[in-house]
Amino acid sequence: MRALHVDGLTKRFGKKIAVDGISFEVGAGEIVGLLGPNGAGKSTTFLCTAGLLRPDAGTFTWDGRPLGANRSQTVALIPETPDVYPMLTIWEHMVFVAKSCRLGEGWQDRAHEFLRRFSLDDQRDTLGSALSKGMRQKTLVAATVLSDAPVILFDEPMIGLDPLGQRELREIIRSLRTHGTAVFISTHMLEQAQALCDRVVILKNGRNIASGTFEELQELAGTHASAEDLFLELTR
Ligand SMILES: Nc1ncnc2c1ncn2[C@@H]1O[C@H](COP(=O)(O)OP(=O)(O)OP(=O)(O)O)[C@@H](O)[C@H]1O
Ligand SMILES: [Mg+2]
Repeated sequence: MRALHVDGLTKRFGKKIAVDGISFEVGAGEIVGLLGPNGAGKSTTFLCTAGLLRPDAGTFTWDGRPLGANRSQTVALIPETPDVYPMLTIWEHMVFVAKSCRLGEGWQDRAHEFLRRFSLDDQRDTLGSALSKGMRQKTLVAATVLSDAPVILFDEPMIGLDPLGQRELREIIRSLRTHGTAVFISTHMLEQAQALCDRVVILKNGRNIASGTFEELQELAGTHASAEDLFLELTR
């Protein structure tokens, strides 16, 4: 199976070790959750994996091939803070992605579909600078999913989305799994993680303290506790 493999990822900021030698894999057609308390190293892991932050150590491969510095066609990241281009409209974000990723025929229909699902289709000519936070988040999700990158990293994508937007995003993420995309998603919403993810990786202080399915983690902790109680027990 094609998979993203990250091995021995380490990132320091001065004396602080933000990520401490973690290894994980995310297979094509798999949704893996990245959980952990604030400051655990989730966003740092994403930034290093997307090639936007230089790690101190670690190797990254996709489908057995090393990922070079220029990996944006392979790994797409929806970052923690949804920064859009202020002087581009929503639709121009779609065009920008379509051109830079050289998308083939039919991308317009897919772009319209994503915007419709996010209730943005009547706002397509609105400039980035005039979008609310949730609208910016939805614009970035639509543009990133449109890119059709084989690996997509979502850093807390549900934050700021209205209930319908959250439902649509869950549906979109599930359809990415069907499509064979490798999805890696960080969240603090544990019930949602349990419902959506095939497996989770739990970080604490930059270390991978547990990973597996929720059932495996329950077994590890010797409890049938809820996702929240299980998480609190494991990260205590
Ligand atoms: N640019 C930076 N400079 C210095 N320290 C940083 C920087 N970015 C992150 N850190 C530190 O690295 C550690 C991991 O931060 P990171 O943002 O990866 O955590 P996180 O798991 O994403 O947390 P949250 O749930 O709050 O988003 C923290 O201790 C943080 O203070
Ligand atoms: Mg973060």
